[in-house]
Amino acid sequence: MLGLPKSDHALFHGWYSVMMAFLSNVVGDPEVTAAGLRTTAELRAYLTPVIKERRRNPGDDVLSTLCTAEIDGERMTDEEINAFTGLLLIAGGETSDKALASMFKNLVSHPDQLQAVREDRSLIARAFAETLRYSPPVRIILRTVKEETEMSGGTLSAGKSVACVIGAANTDDRRYADADSFNIFREDLDVSRAFSAAANHMAFCGGRHFCVGAVLAKAEVEIGANLLLDAMDDIRFPDGYTPTDEGLFSRAPASLLLEFTPRAA
Ligand code: HEM
Repeated sequence: MLGLPKSDHALFHGWYSVMMAFLSNVVGDPEVTAAGLRTTAELRAYLTPVIKERRRNPGDDVLSTLCTAEIDGERMTDEEINAFTGLLLIAGGETSDKALASMFKNLVSHPDQLQAVREDRSLIARAFAETLRYSPPVRIILRTVKEETEMSGGTLSAGKSVACVIGAANTDDRRYADADSFNIFREDLDVSRAFSAAANHMAFCGGRHFCVGAVLAKAEVEIGANLLLDAMDDIRFPDGYTPTDEGLFSRAPASLLLEFTPRAA
């Protein structure tokens, strides 16, 4: 999308994982902070010459569009484009990675549902929507209180930051039957609007800041899941292995060990 070389993919992967750890560094680990600052500088050093080149020779990629877009005669500065591209990388990369890992964790943990998806690939969208509800990649979003507000018997004063645990909202049993169970066939999750701002889960948040990449994420996860199911039969966890989720702001298994039978190409 950004028109950057595919050969640099590993570089971006490293960068967005480090940046996500930096943003979620609530305990203030100095090494994580230092790595985050180093990565920010590296990304800027990588992108700035590309931005200058795209301003001179725009293509049909998103980066060129950002470089040439004009509103009321004003263009975005290099710094703004750098910052937005950094946001896109983290918001788009880390989240989709986590969604795919969690979806396979959920499906492999429920072999009957995995088999149903294997037999009818149109169920991938359902499995993805239920994964977003049951184990959303983004668990917490931050908001700033605009004016003093009473909530749940407490007072939030203006200017304070609030951590909204959207992961908890997604498993609220006043909203979903048997909320703590993964069930791609549940009737109280509307898959037809699960990837739009009208979604009845909170994984992409809502309102003005609803995730701009929701439909892209769906396409990515569908393509990825189809490729994996084409390549692997009889997917299972190794004996005695239970994957565990990691992370606070964003959460998923850090790695997923799978055993499978390779399918003939
Ligand atoms: C399963 C995958 C994804 C999940 C769970 C997810 C989740 C979210 C959430 C919860 C927000 C709201 C944050 C807030 O309001 O504080 C958000 C915003 C955003 N997302 Fe995603 N996202 C995903 C994929 C993507 C992709 C693929 C892209 C782009 C390539 C993307 C780009 C963005 C951007 C730019 C924002 C900020 C929108 C704004 O503030 O107006 N996301 N996402």
